[in-house]
Amino acid sequence: MSLVDPRLLIDPLAYAEHGYPWEAWATLRREAPVHKLSLEGWPDYWALTKHDEIVEVSKQPDIFLNAPGMVMVEDRDDEFRQQNPIRTIINMDPPDHKKYRKIASPYFTPRAVGNLQGLIDKTARDLVDGMGEEGEMDFITEIASIHPLKIIARILGVPEEDEPFILRLTNELFGSADPELQRSPDRIEAMTSLFGEFWEYFGKVMADRRANPQDDFASVIANAKIDGEPMGELETMGYCLITFTAGHETTRGSIGGGLAALMEHPGQMAKWAADPELTPTAIDEIVRYVTPVNHMVRTAAKDYELGGQQIREGDKLVLFYASANRDEDIFDDPNSLILDRNPNRHLGFGIGEHFCAGANLARATSGALFRELVAALDEVELTGTPERTASTLVPGLKHMPIRYRMRRRARAA
Ligand code: HEM
Repeated sequence: MSLVDPRLLIDPLAYAEHGYPWEAWATLRREAPVHKLSLEGWPDYWALTKHDEIVEVSKQPDIFLNAPGMVMVEDRDDEFRQQNPIRTIINMDPPDHKKYRKIASPYFTPRAVGNLQGLIDKTARDLVDGMGEEGEMDFITEIASIHPLKIIARILGVPEEDEPFILRLTNELFGSADPELQRSPDRIEAMTSLFGEFWEYFGKVMADRRANPQDDFASVIANAKIDGEPMGELETMGYCLITFTAGHETTRGSIGGGLAALMEHPGQMAKWAADPELTPTAIDEIVRYVTPVNHMVRTAAKDYELGGQQIREGDKLVLFYASANRDEDIFDDPNSLILDRNPNRHLGFGIGEHFCAGANLARATSGALFRELVAALDEVELTGTPERTASTLVPGLKHMPIRYRMRRRARAA
């Protein structure tokens, strides 16, 4: 008899049905922080649920590898993964990883993100202004999803008219197990045609930026060099894929889940509205509380003893960031949203070698949106039950119907 129901932790449909398995994780943190689980149709894996062990693993990238796969997939999908060797930095290990990551780093420093601040603020303001004085809407599809989409689209050279197309591809990719979002129930067929479309679209963008370089990230990756040679096609496409997918779905999760959390903590929302200076700590607290990226996988390159358990070479370890972010030994009152929490050693952006390359951009994007939103909202309530995407990786909200009324605000021209 297993300590917890393994399905709750790993099956995408369980996330759609029950949400994040907070109780199961609390049991594991208390009784077995490094615990081997088996579920038919999935590879066996070690569930890591406490902060300490996740940090220990993340800081040893030579022993705990991101290749061959850094997310859990069912046995039946593993073959597709092996046949599609698109290389993203999140799938690379030392020594390659650092070389490739260096290409993106200059574009995502706080200073470089500062250059995008005008665009980010205007997009946020237009969206919140567009909500009018009062109304009802699906906050996820109309706001949470649109703001990061527009920012990522601009930096990746996607014109406004193609945003719906790109949004659909991202939804189909992350929602591949979700009956509403998936392209087809035949996952192999769905993924093959999806990658084909993605490749065709960004292949053209890359060719254009090689011929006509501009001041955007698309031009940086299109013209990148590794060891003095142009970056390979698999890696160039990998960069487009990771930037779009890692940049969009995650920030959407943070904005959508963030508003849901604020509705559960109205006192915190009022505090933020009264004090916009709270934004930097508030944004990180939302990432901790929501943890849009639920897990990542590492594969052991050699035998290793972890938390009193013997890990064998080739074993898979699932780092449940969401569980670590509620670790009672690290956070006071971990199940409450405390916007001025400081320090906040959350793992919502990962830690170590693969720490989120877009964290500054994510903070700027969600910060701008929430600054506008909390200042404007007078009242907000749910008008239906929020629905979650069936995913183990980014099980964010896909629908959240709300009714709202705005304060009257003087707007500078
Ligand atoms: C709230 C929003 C976001 C969250 C919660 C988030 C979370 C994460 C996490 C947990 C990782 C670590 C993966 C690992 O442990 O292997 C990661 C990596 C990464 N993220 Fe983010 N992310 C967010 C936004 C963004 C944005 C906006 C971008 C870029 C436009 C981005 C680009 C990346 C990239 C490129 C990596 C791979 C880094 C590497 O392997 O060295 N992310 N992200």
